[in-house]
Amino acid sequence: MAINPPIDATQTPSWAALQHEYDAMQAEGIDLKKWFAEDENRVDKLSFDAGTLHFDLSKNLIKPEMLKLFADLAKDVKLDERTKAMYSGEHINNTEGRAVLHTALRRPKEDEGKYIVDGQDTVKDVRETLDRIYAFANKVRSGEWKGVTGKEIDTIVNIGIGGSDLGPVMAYEALKPFADAGISARFISNIDPNDLAEKTRDLNPETTLFIVVSKTFTTLETLTNAREARTWLLEELKRIDAIDDSKEKEAEAVAKHFVAVSTNLEKVAEFGIDPQNAFGFWNWVGGRYSVDSAVGTSLAVVFGPARFEEFLSGFHEIDEYFANTPFEKNVVVLMGILNVWYRNFFKVASHAVLPYDQYLHRFPAYLQQLTMESNGKSVRWDGTPVTTETGEIFWGEPGTNGQHAFYQLIHQGTQLIPADFIAFANTPNPLKDGDQDVHELLLGNYFAQTKALAFGKTADEVRAEGTPEEIVPARVFTGNRPTTSIFGVRLDPFALGELIALYEMITFVEGTVWGLDSYDQWGVELGKQLAKQITPAISQDDEALLAQDASTRSLINYYRKVREF
Ligand code: F6P
Repeated sequence: MAINPPIDATQTPSWAALQHEYDAMQAEGIDLKKWFAEDENRVDKLSFDAGTLHFDLSKNLIKPEMLKLFADLAKDVKLDERTKAMYSGEHINNTEGRAVLHTALRRPKEDEGKYIVDGQDTVKDVRETLDRIYAFANKVRSGEWKGVTGKEIDTIVNIGIGGSDLGPVMAYEALKPFADAGISARFISNIDPNDLAEKTRDLNPETTLFIVVSKTFTTLETLTNAREARTWLLEELKRIDAIDDSKEKEAEAVAKHFVAVSTNLEKVAEFGIDPQNAFGFWNWVGGRYSVDSAVGTSLAVVFGPARFEEFLSGFHEIDEYFANTPFEKNVVVLMGILNVWYRNFFKVASHAVLPYDQYLHRFPAYLQQLTMESNGKSVRWDGTPVTTETGEIFWGEPGTNGQHAFYQLIHQGTQLIPADFIAFANTPNPLKDGDQDVHELLLGNYFAQTKALAFGKTADEVRAEGTPEEIVPARVFTGNRPTTSIFGVRLDPFALGELIALYEMITFVEGTVWGLDSYDQWGVELGKQLAKQITPAISQDDEALLAQDASTRSLINYYRKVREF
């Protein structure tokens, strides 16, 4: 199918206008303190609400008038058309010839019949699969689903990698206080045998259920780990005399302790998992956009169907907000263009995401795949080279831990690092230290950091504290370091869905400006191919070793010399 070439954002009038703003800002000097003093409504003009989330963009290096230019850029690159194309199931992932329909995963039942794509009633199929997942989850949660020895399941082990791991583990960690059925989860992803060894060490095979999650069901790591887990299960059950060596008993144990999630149900059957115990999804769901599909089955089991529905509603809330709010007031669009502003005009290389919530400790890792696998590209969707920088590096750690580690560089380093600060007003675990609310100590830091980054500390202020002159420069904070504050009411399944959808759509906005197919990931393929070729050379195949480049040969020879087995 012919595709429209991307619009070159750098050639649009809005881009030229932004360049003009940038040049003027550099000439007149960036001064957040002054901008706040000059405009008493700055915060109002740059604050937004979407769903249950509140946003303060006022500590960014922008003037409120620029929101119009941001909206113009979104219009110039026809963001609205591409959004419609995505939501309606056009094959906007053209390098893989696929629709991009994660938005259909969270549509309500009332939308059945409205989103027919390539002959498929997407919402109906989604809802049917959800019903099966919920029935399964309820059985496990109620204890009706039993292991091979008749015991109830108390531990889920999710085996998957990339999008089949990062979403579920991030959401599991984020929502732990909502686990209400006495079932916990673990996640095995790495092909490093130590991952499986550590995660199974104290597991009871009788009460463990493995969920093997792989969109393709061909991923080396996941299939290897699933095979290893099956071996572990059977060996452990035999060791405690729970099953005998018969093929029937082994098959029964696998049927009761393994389920699968995949778009490739044939391969699931080949692996030996009963298709009755498999939950499907579709090739229009990208791995990194799949936590709200069957990929989240572990979440439905641990937290229950009702919570999973709330999670989906949170995504849907932002999907609707994003698609239906005028660009100038649309904080999702504005945050996407803000990232472009920093990446392409200020030439920033990275973007920090700093959750002031320990439950979100895997959120930055999750975002790394979402953003960097989506927009880490040098050619546009028509195969032509990009016309400007793309894909900033996303990274982060929860505050306040990060404050005692890398914040030094954000405050006083030589590079500009825009940062998103995320916190929630309420916590499920309120604690009092004497008469001090510990949660407020955390929030105090959340507020203080963005204030310090924005307004800094002058040499005169440092001197006024009695600091010896020679160390004054080391104690100056320049300020004017941009941050966005995202403040939620509480971290619950709905808010988590909102937060994920927010970043999904920010990624989409950036990708649209840059003309990228944000839904393919060809850049991960070469390494996979080479690993297949090289692995035999490591200890078995000398001819394959000779065929390697000099550096690889030398490294393998070193390995052969020092290995102890
Ligand atoms: O290697 C990258 C990748 O293809 C990701 O895009 C994907 O999320 C991950 O591998 C896992 O793939 P699968 O779910 O097919 O096992």
